[in-house]
Amino acid sequence: MRIVVLTGAGISAESGVPTFRDAGGLWEGHRVEDVATPEGFEADPELVLRFYDERRRGVASVVPNEAHRALAALEDVIRDHLLVVTQNVDDLHERAGSRNLVHMHGELRRALCAVCGSRPEWTGDLVDRPPCPVCGERMLRPDVVWFGEMPYGLDRIEQAVVACDVFVSIGTSGAVYPAAGYVALAAAFGARTVELNLEPTDAAVPFDEVRTGRAGEVVPAWVDEVIAAR
Ligand code: APR
Repeated sequence: MRIVVLTGAGISAESGVPTFRDAGGLWEGHRVEDVATPEGFEADPELVLRFYDERRRGVASVVPNEAHRALAALEDVIRDHLLVVTQNVDDLHERAGSRNLVHMHGELRRALCAVCGSRPEWTGDLVDRPPCPVCGERMLRPDVVWFGEMPYGLDRIEQAVVACDVFVSIGTSGAVYPAAGYVALAAAFGARTVELNLEPTDAAVPFDEVRTGRAGEVVPAWVDEVIAAR
């Protein structure tokens, strides 16, 4: 059985990483246009670099939760029959042990050089405009995909989605494309679709099954069932 799992901010909420659109979410305190668009970066690079520096420090101070660990445990059992596609820019999936993983919206733990295009691993701040370790230019930005930019790994993701037997969506509101369109693509190619979320979302096409609750509870329970059914 081939499984594709799409995750969003909700899977990291119980680790203490804020989501975007929930009460107290990131987009309550910041205008998307100001901090998540190339135009916003051009208009006020310091504001944007400070915003992501703060998020990078926040993520470094938290740990993966039961939901991240359950997906890593599932990968240990079914190996490359599982692909995790995350919209999250935190590294909690990796720290929980996931390896078959695509960060379609980039990673806080990487910088992107606007001059040479290199994507060095990065754990410090960017607001002081440090030089790029490859070309030496001081044009590093967070390696996060902003609105209007092309997400990463689309070909690999689409190949996996059309070939999967089960498509699972965890902790995402389904508000942002192309991620929000994968349930329809998976269903169109005959996959069974499952949503694990705090509340049901208004998805492009209805899921075959919806389980509501906190990811830290519903994901381990679902993983146990998948492993038991093998
Ligand atoms: N367990 C399960 N689901 C949860 C939990 C939890 N503990 N807490 C919140 N949720 C659910 C919410 O009900 C909501 O449906 O997670 C979802 C979070 O939705 P968003 O905040 O919209 O985050 P996400 O879907 O990941 O956003 C998609 O939008 O802003 C851009 O690039 C950014 O990757 C992001 C994309």
